[in-house]
Amino acid sequence: MAGYSDAPMRQLCAEAGALWTVSEMISSRGLVLGNEDADLIIGKPYKGEVGRVVQLFGADPDILAEASRKAAEWFDAAAIDLNMGCPVPKVRGKGGACLLQTPEVAYTLISAMRGAVPLDVSAKIRLGFDTNRAVEVAQGLEAAGVSLITVHGRTSAQRYTGQADWDAIAAVAASVRVPVIGSGDVLSAEQARERLKTGVAAVMIGRGAVGQPWIFSELLEDGFALPDLKAWASTALRHTRLNAQWYGEWRGMKQMRKVLPRYLAGAEPLPSELRDALVRLDTLLQAEALLRPLVGQMEDGRADLASA
Ligand SMILES: Cc1cc2nc3c(=O)[nH]c(=O)nc-3n(C[C@H](O)[C@H](O)[C@H](O)COP(=O)(O)O)c2cc1C
Repeated sequence: MAGYSDAPMRQLCAEAGALWTVSEMISSRGLVLGNEDADLIIGKPYKGEVGRVVQLFGADPDILAEASRKAAEWFDAAAIDLNMGCPVPKVRGKGGACLLQTPEVAYTLISAMRGAVPLDVSAKIRLGFDTNRAVEVAQGLEAAGVSLITVHGRTSAQRYTGQADWDAIAAVAASVRVPVIGSGDVLSAEQARERLKTGVAAVMIGRGAVGQPWIFSELLEDGFALPDLKAWASTALRHTRLNAQWYGEWRGMKQMRKVLPRYLAGAEPLPSELRDALVRLDTLLQAEALLRPLVGQMEDGRADLASA
């Protein structure tokens, strides 16, 4: 998820038991031309990271092939994924969900990427650009050699409105031999269990993991006790510290301003002054001063929910 599935978030999710994680989408052109520093930090693994798929965005086979090689070499990718779902207008015509209008182009991209790296290549699609043609596209992608397909159950025209169509996702899963991962509106472990019954090989959790990385532990461990305020605050604090280490303090705190409200959403009602201060963070010291009292007397190590 662009803007969210960075190294700190992937680390917390992996520690909580996520089977694998996917990078934010990376511009293949930026990676190949080497002039976009942002792509380099987006692609970098954290120390010891394994099982992280690198997602590339683009529409040119030669550039995607070269970007796949660089992602494999520089970022130690476990697999490479082609983004065929991004609906953001500024990138229309260049890739993302646009490829759903011209899937034959996508098939050539997959072939080029597969030829470039000895890794599995997968694709993440939406149901279609403005109408559902997901079965046709998935079958074409399978013929082009993808190892796995993730389907977000909305069209690009829908963006994030309405509900993801899990019947449509199930139809795709039934139409191809490669594993299909379902994506869309899984916000709780209970919903994930329900969606697994549709015939998909696995469920992808996006927004539901922002501010509640323990959703994976909840899924894996019978009787997992949902975090209380202390454990919630402790994980939020750990995320904040990881961010400061990863990005440097200023950029890390700026990024946490949009992530902390998601943690707050799951916590007990908090004083509005605290909420306001957290979303205007400038320094790690401020975050420590605001969150540590909520963590209370617990030792950092013990309070560290994600690694418990
Ligand atoms: C802020 C945001 C950023 C996203 N970035 C990406 C991305 O970079 N690549 C991608 O394949 N999907 C991206 N998505 C789509 C999600 O992966 C997912 O398919 C969609 O949000 C539905 O699942 P969810 O309800 O679990 O979030 C993004 C979604 C959001 C809300």
